[in-house]
Amino acid sequence: MARERNSSKPLTKAVFPVAGLGTRFLPMTKAIPKEMLCLVDRPLIQYGVEEAVSAGFKEVLFITGRGKSAIEKYFDFSPDFELLLRQKGNRRAMADIKRVSDHIHFCYTRQKDPRGLGHAILCAKNIIGQEAFAVLLGDEVIVSRQPVISQLLDVHQEFGGTVVAVQRVDKKELSNYGVIAGRPLGGGVHQLEDLVEKPTAAKAPSQLAVVGRYVLSPGIFEAIACTRPGKNREIQLTDALKLLLAEEPVYALEIRGDRYDAGTIMGLLKANVALALKHPEFRQEMHRYLADLGLIRAPADNHRRG
Ligand code: G1P
Repeated sequence: MARERNSSKPLTKAVFPVAGLGTRFLPMTKAIPKEMLCLVDRPLIQYGVEEAVSAGFKEVLFITGRGKSAIEKYFDFSPDFELLLRQKGNRRAMADIKRVSDHIHFCYTRQKDPRGLGHAILCAKNIIGQEAFAVLLGDEVIVSRQPVISQLLDVHQEFGGTVVAVQRVDKKELSNYGVIAGRPLGGGVHQLEDLVEKPTAAKAPSQLAVVGRYVLSPGIFEAIACTRPGKNREIQLTDALKLLLAEEPVYALEIRGDRYDAGTIMGLLKANVALALKHPEFRQEMHRYLADLGLIRAPADNHRRG
């Protein structure tokens, strides 16, 4: 297919489905939404929101559920803390707590019954209307020079339509993901021909797994409405994308970035270590700590000090 410049207007809305119960993190999730668990120095959900902000999104829509009000509180203004920090002259902490809430309009709607990712996205229909929009799954933190969602926007800008993020994964991990079959168009872009939700390695059409970033055309709403419950008896976004494929082109982009799946306790622990080792304030001490435990080589300045 010839590349056509798509003249659609810039996307403004980013959707975060956050209604999931977080059973993998029980007992913590009895009291705290999993999205609020700590990843180095901020809650998990903030990484995705910062990614959307740096890609230019102005409106963030959370699809929430019962027990998730801490998310709303977190992204709200906090006049008490702001006053306290102003009085103490702590400008840095002040900038930190205002960084995201100042730049974005937040909107919340409820998924009354968690019936799958496709069902969650359908809850956004009335708020999104007839525009293309982004979806970010907060469990996956992706560190990259160009925000991953903006890599997808570039493909959307060039080809139009729907774009999903994919990465090559080990065969034994394919059953955790939606997996695509596509025709390579160059530059890591594939025109989708098929998608399967959580296939066995033997039935997977490729090793390209859908990771948690999507640019969706508004046609997805009708596709979801026509989608029957699939894997785990849930309305799967993957199945809806497969229906959409029959109506309009869908693309996949092999994204560039280091991805951390923080949706399990082990994944979150690994992400904490990996991101602490990249964090300007904590990396040296973390490096020393791991070196003291004999897990990695001591940092260069330790050698110098002998
Ligand atoms: C969801 C999607 C799946 C996708 C994955 C990415 O699965 O259904 O297609 O590959 O996110 O993380 P979940 O992890 O919610 O089970």
